[in-house]
Amino acid sequence: MPHSIVIFGASGDLTQRKLIPALYQLHRKGRLPDDTRVVGFSRTKFTHDEWRASLTESTQKFAGDNFDAESWGEFAQKIFYHPGDIGQAEDFAELDKMLVELEGDGESERVYYLSTAPRFYGPAAEMLGKSGMADESNGPRRVVIEKPFGTDGETASKLNAVVHSHFAEHQVYRIDHYLGKETVQNLMVLRFANSIFEPIWNRNYINHVQITVAEEVDIGSRAGYYETAGIIRDMFQNHILQLMMITAMEAPVKYAADPVRDEKVKVLQAVRPMTPEMLTADTFRGQYDGYLQEKDVAPDSQTATFAAMKLWIDNWRWQGVPFYLRSGKAMSCRTTQIVIRFRRPPHMLFENTSRNCEANQLVIQVQPAEGIQMHFQTKVPDQGMRFRQTDLDFRYDREFRGVMPEAYERLLLDALEGDASLFARADEVEAAWSICDPILQHWQNENQPPVYKYERGFWGPMESTEWMRETGREWFDTCPVLH
Ligand code: BG6
Repeated sequence: MPHSIVIFGASGDLTQRKLIPALYQLHRKGRLPDDTRVVGFSRTKFTHDEWRASLTESTQKFAGDNFDAESWGEFAQKIFYHPGDIGQAEDFAELDKMLVELEGDGESERVYYLSTAPRFYGPAAEMLGKSGMADESNGPRRVVIEKPFGTDGETASKLNAVVHSHFAEHQVYRIDHYLGKETVQNLMVLRFANSIFEPIWNRNYINHVQITVAEEVDIGSRAGYYETAGIIRDMFQNHILQLMMITAMEAPVKYAADPVRDEKVKVLQAVRPMTPEMLTADTFRGQYDGYLQEKDVAPDSQTATFAAMKLWIDNWRWQGVPFYLRSGKAMSCRTTQIVIRFRRPPHMLFENTSRNCEANQLVIQVQPAEGIQMHFQTKVPDQGMRFRQTDLDFRYDREFRGVMPEAYERLLLDALEGDASLFARADEVEAAWSICDPILQHWQNENQPPVYKYERGFWGPMESTEWMRETGREWFDTCPVLH
């Protein structure tokens, strides 16, 4: 059956940086369904050839060594363009006509990818519906919606309502590119394709969990967006809560969209609602030095570029186990890691050891040094019963020599093939907002909590280290070693 992927907002940055390079790699690897075409739609008046030429340049740049002229030449023949305006019904009618011409009269599968400015997600879904393009009588019709999905719970639920008045939920694919990362999917494999972890993956053995998404980059030229978003909307509502859900979820009965998402949503539903006292004690925000001098940032901006928080998951498995989440821009290094910190041994039998016994720790390196390390105590040879911490160290680059694929490759292919397991469901997105909304409101109330400053290149504000120490714990502040 012919497949079409239509990118709305085709002249935007994401199309050039991620979507076209990912589709091109799928073509090179022979993974795109036969008879697939890519159609761009946006207001810029390109011809097919002009758009192809502009993509040739950008893909060469973003695909780097994975670009070769021959396969690009083949792929470029699958690329088409239709200039149009999201607000104009006629433009959708013409687009549909063009798609039917390209696909032929029979059935076809279509993916509409909304990569426009977020305010157009609702209108685009509406136009697709009204023009009959969401109708599935002629084959599957799916819509992929980029982040941010709403700016709070209310706007997300309104957007869901608009989308649902034209598309059934099984047609809607809310994308979070973190779910496309190999190591994030591997977390499910680690937990559910091995039997040694499950018995200890709970409050009886785990002291706490830390999830850190640190970025070395600052906000660059994105102040316009970032000033309205801040770190909670940009990273926590989506990526970090996704990592937490996968770390904490129960085993789904099988790997399929609804069983997986049912279990993920249950985690969010079990997160203890924050009381005013908890909001004050358990959430923390910071801003890097120099943020106020960034272009287009308000001189008195309170926007957080760093946040940390402690969440509790009130269920049988996680009762009493805090989840510490943190993320920031302009930090020490780029690293995303999940640290499972186990309890200490209940009784220390080795006397005369010079050091305290460290707790075991499982570190899941999501990026950039993808891998997993298990930290445990080992006896130092020839030194009585002295011991020290050592590692079992699994690294993707050593084990699987190939290059890690881009997250968008997997997600685009799943959307084309109709597998929504790695996409967020309506209730999941709304439940994630219900965790973030009170924090955002708390940070805006009259007695605003402080915005702690931090120097670029640090692990966030010093106060965050203190905040953690007060709980008797330490952040795992370690930059991964890159080979
Ligand atoms: C995006 C955020 O969703 O994720 C960016 O908008 C952030 O601010 C990016 O830099 C991080 O993604 P990755 O894949 O580089 O960790």
